[in-house]
This record gives sequence, C-alpha cells and structure tokens, in this order.
Amino acid sequence: MQNMNQSSFRILALALHLLIAPCAASKDRTLSVTSPDGSLKVTFELREKIPYYSLSKNEWQVIQPSKLGFLLKNLPALSGTFEIVSSASSSVDETWTQPWGEVKQVRNHHNQLLVHLLDGMKRKLSIEFRVFNDGMGFRYHVPAQKSLKDFVIMDELTEFAFAQDLSAWWIPAYGDEMDSEYLYNNSRLSEIKQKVTTPVTLESPGLVVSIHEAALVDYAGMALENMGGLKFKADLVPWSDGERVKTSAPMTSPWRTIQVGTNAGDLVTSPLILNLNEPCRLNDVSWIKPGKYMGVWWGMHLQRNTWEQGPNHGATTANVKSLIDFASAHKFAGVLAEGWNEGWEGDWTQGGNFNFTKSYPDFDLAALSKYAREKNIALIAHHETGGNVSNYERQLDDAFRLLREHDIHYLKTGYVNKLPAGERHQGQFMVRHYHKVMETAAKYKVMLDVHEPVKDTGLRRTFPNMMTREGARGTEYEAWSSGNPPSHTTILPFTRCLAGPLDYTPGIFDILFKNRGSFRVHTTLAKQLALYVVLYSPLHMAADLPENYNGHPAFKFIEDVPTDWEYTRVVNGEIGKFVTIARKDRHSNQWFVGSITNEEPREISLPLDFLDQGKKYTAEVYTDGQNADFSNNPLDFEIRHTAAVDNQTTLKLRLAPGGGTAIRFFENTTGK
Ligand code: NOJ
Ligand code: CA
Repeated sequence: MQNMNQSSFRILALALHLLIAPCAASKDRTLSVTSPDGSLKVTFELREKIPYYSLSKNEWQVIQPSKLGFLLKNLPALSGTFEIVSSASSSVDETWTQPWGEVKQVRNHHNQLLVHLLDGMKRKLSIEFRVFNDGMGFRYHVPAQKSLKDFVIMDELTEFAFAQDLSAWWIPAYGDEMDSEYLYNNSRLSEIKQKVTTPVTLESPGLVVSIHEAALVDYAGMALENMGGLKFKADLVPWSDGERVKTSAPMTSPWRTIQVGTNAGDLVTSPLILNLNEPCRLNDVSWIKPGKYMGVWWGMHLQRNTWEQGPNHGATTANVKSLIDFASAHKFAGVLAEGWNEGWEGDWTQGGNFNFTKSYPDFDLAALSKYAREKNIALIAHHETGGNVSNYERQLDDAFRLLREHDIHYLKTGYVNKLPAGERHQGQFMVRHYHKVMETAAKYKVMLDVHEPVKDTGLRRTFPNMMTREGARGTEYEAWSSGNPPSHTTILPFTRCLAGPLDYTPGIFDILFKNRGSFRVHTTLAKQLALYVVLYSPLHMAADLPENYNGHPAFKFIEDVPTDWEYTRVVNGEIGKFVTIARKDRHSNQWFVGSITNEEPREISLPLDFLDQGKKYTAEVYTDGQNADFSNNPLDFEIRHTAAVDNQTTLKLRLAPGGGTAIRFFENTTGK
C-alpha cells in the first residue's frame, strides 16, 4: 500500500477486554466510553431490554437516551428482548497519510466500546461505538449465525433524541428527482416537518453538531425523520418495493456519526468521517492526481452550444482541440468534453439511452486523446446516464475498456434524472450501482467526478480514485434558474462539504452573461476566485469560457491555486454569513486564503498566524473593488501586493455585498 497507513501506527492499548456473564433477565446494565480528552461521553444501556445510547459533551447533554435496533421483514424486531453477553474496550492512536486531500496527515485517535447482545430468539447483534475528541460514530454488526441468514430491514430504529432545540441547517430528502440540489433551510430542529438529508448541521452558542454517516456500502442512505419534539429517527431510503435493506448475515451497517465542536469551523476540519472508513484498498495510487480542469460545459448551460449534434454542437474535434490548447497554455490538468457520445437527442433526462462507446462523427476520440497527451492534458471522459442505470451497467466494461484504449484516466458521470421506476439516488439499489462503478473505475485506473451522486460518506479513503462529486446546487443553477444567492456558498462549507469534496464548478468571470434574461451569477468576480479555496475539491473546474479568461488579470489566481493541501485552517466563519479558510499547498511553501460573505458587506480581520514561523511572505490579494456589489457592480475588482508579512501580521479584508477575497502568499526573500 503506497502512502496510506505507512506512518506511525500504534494501537495504544487493548485496554480492557471484559467478558461479562450473561445478565440476569431483570438486570439492565450501563456501559460507557469517553473520548481521549475526556470531553465526550457515550453511554450504552438496556432499558426494558431495548438498547439505548446517549452522548454528552462536558456538562452538556447532546443526545438523550436514544433507541437502537431494527424492524425486519416477516421476523420479530431485532430490538426488544436483548441481554448483554459481553463487551470489549480498546483504544487507537495512529496517524495516516492521505494520498491527496485537504490535509496530508490525519490523526485517528479514539476509544472504542463493542457491545455484544443476544435476544430472546438467540439472535446476535453487536453495536460498536468509537469516540473521538471531535465526535462519535456507532454501527451495527449482525454476525454470521444460525438463527439469522438472509433478511430484509424494513426500518432502522436508530434515534437521535436531541437535548436542545438547536438551530438546524438542512435540505429535504425525497424532494424530487434532482435529489440533493437545493438551497438550504435554517430553522429550529423542532420546526423541521419533513424528512431531511444528511449531513444536517446544528448549532447553538458554544455547541455545533453534525449528523451524518460514514462508509455507506451495500446499505440504504440514511435520511432523518422528526418523530415529534426534539426526537429524530433514522429513515432509510427505501427500494421501489418499500424494503429498506436487502441483506444477509454477517452484515455491518454504515457508521452513524455525530460530530461535535464548539464553533462551526471545528466541523470543517474534523476528520471523523474519514477515520471511520477503511484504509486504502488500492495497491497503487501513483496514477491518482488532483488538478484543475476546463471543459466543454458552460456553453451548453448558457444554451450557446448543444450536447447533441447540430450547428452548435459543443464537443467537436475542433472545439475540444482549441480548449486543449488553451488549457495546456495555462497549465491545467484536464479538459472535459460533454456531449461527445451518441444519445443526447430528445429528452435524455427521462431515462436516457446513451451509447458509451460511440462518439458523434464530429468528435474524433482517437485524435483528441493523442493530441491531449502531446499537450500534457488529460482528456476527461463523460458518462451521462440520464438515470438509465441498466443501460449503463450493460455497457460498463466496454465503456471502461474504451477509456483504457485511449489512456483516459478521468471520468465525470451523471445521473440526471429519472432512475429506474421508484428507485432513488440514496437507496440501496443506487448505493450498489455507484459502488460498482467506483470499483470498476479503480480497476481501470480511472478517477471519478460523480454528478447527481449518492452522498459522500468518506469512501475516498478506501478508494482514492473517488475524487469528487456534486450532490449540491452548483454553479449550473446560475445559468438557468433563479440561481444561488450569496449566502448559499457560506452555508455549503458547514453542511454539504462536511461529507466530502464538492465539484461546485466555480470560476465564472462573465457574471452577467448576456442574452439569458434575468439569469446571472450571484457573486462578485473576486468571490468566484475565493471559492477555489473555500470549497474543497481535489478536482476544481475553471468553468467559464476561455474567451472570458483570455487576458483577464484575475485568471492568474485560478492558474496558481492548487487543489491538494498540506493543512487546512478555518480562520473564522458563521454559517450563512461568512467564512474564511486558509490552506497550505502540499507541493510548495505557498499559502492560500479564501474569504466570502453573503449579501452583507463585511470587514474581516485576518491574523496570519497560520504562516510558517520565521518566514516572510508577499500577499497577492484579489479583492472586491471599492464600489463592488454583487447586485449591481459585480466586476469591480482589484489586485494588490502587500509589503512583507509574517505570522505576526494581521490583514484587514473588505468584502463587498456578495463578495470575497482570494489571497496567494508566497515567500518574500527580499524582506520588502
Ligand atoms: C447535470 C450535471 O450537474 C452537469 O454538470 C452536466 O453538464 C449535465 N447534467 C449534463 O450531463
Ligand atoms: Ca447536477
């Protein structure tokens, strides 16, 4: 295994291995486990033979006793008649290296409690708790056993009984066919009346919480349902037949995760989801490379080009060649070509019938992949499925063989819009499909960018070819809808981005693009630059047309900004208002900062205490101009260079309404 897990690995202690004699029927037991720093405490207990857990942080109760267990099809519930057979505690403190990421080194430091249960029908269930300083995870194991083989989960009884009526940031689950592409709602927990998708972020002064899941494999995605008051319950997204999970013992569920911090920034840098995933399963990761890309893309969303053949066809050999030339001249990693293959005619969103091996006649795949290679550009393939999964699976091997034939190692996939009758992006049917594509891609050495994906649960640790995904309302909405208000990108880092990398497709310079009625981008130009730092993705697109970049001084920031980081630091932030993030390049001594605001103008104080001790830097600051305002003057922007700064300096940033600032810090050896 390259890179992964090679650094210090220490199992500190197999602290305690308790074999508890089967309890007397009347005797319920309480077990607990605390985080390494002692601040978080998880308690497990049986109440009338039903398993419950709870969570506290210092003096605060975060989760009140909350039920655990399952309802099964045609079998008694796996919940009500339990006794504790045994339990075991252990601790881990290891540091592992990400092949790419928002940080290089990740510390996995936790205490664990594993509880083995037996019910009245002699069925076994184990529940595993891991408690970190930044939160907890728990999961179910149904071990191999005589009394339970194949079974169907009709309901997961897991509850989250919150102790306080926190302020919640959420998007609906089961909304429509576009799945997770929503603007966020902010309400009290108790006011959530519909099922919501995770991550859900909760806050009150001094306490922030995110509920999500880790390692979602061959199971249904979890939504949350309000059971009244402050009690929420896992709601597994069902198959079309209403069943939730079709499985057999031994079965391990995904982790249910509760990240806890004191301020919103703590959630952004919490590695808990990654730590709860399995280590890298690929023997060779040397071919996996983060980078920036351009593409035949925005032109279609602006309706200047078409995906299908015709006079305005976007992905023609000539167009893609000229994009390769531009991307190569500006040292990009890749060029995406959407609309290269047959099947875009008619309404492809209603169960498309794409061919993944046949190019349109005006797209010469062989010539382009050769040309791209000569220009040091990776051609990025595109598989829009139109949601027709069986059509895609039928062609999967042929499609990937074609990529191999042309030495193509990047692929964007898409699942607009209608899935097979009644199936959902977050249900087990699709979880299996996305996994199959990810494994196939790994086999063919292909890195993935998935649009309309299943939510990210940290599987990139195990399959680092799973680079980035959408699963959010991205820039495309600015081209053909009321768009994304300035607050949207100040919410995403604290909600959707907690799950993992986001392919938001930033970098639009022609903010007010003409001829599209009232449609426009809802930021200033400087904010478009800041998004490269604020929104983490190992693959970031420069989404605008080359003609809007050509000769523009701001384009230098997009050229310079890396997509692979040594460290990440959240300098400040309030969900929905503003956020400032500093990241250090993994391959140089440069630091980058992105700071963005919602509709309100803001002065941001930026202490540079993250800069390397003892070094002087010049700050290259891309900022909103004096009169900038996203609503009526979005293009007003300035570049300035500071005199030498160091980690004692504090910069003042001025963000315009809907604006932002992007900064590159590079070493200054002259001291001026
Ligand atoms: C939706 C994706 O989000 C977008 O990026 C893509 O261009 C279209 N589907 C077509 O595949
Ligand atoms: Ca989309």
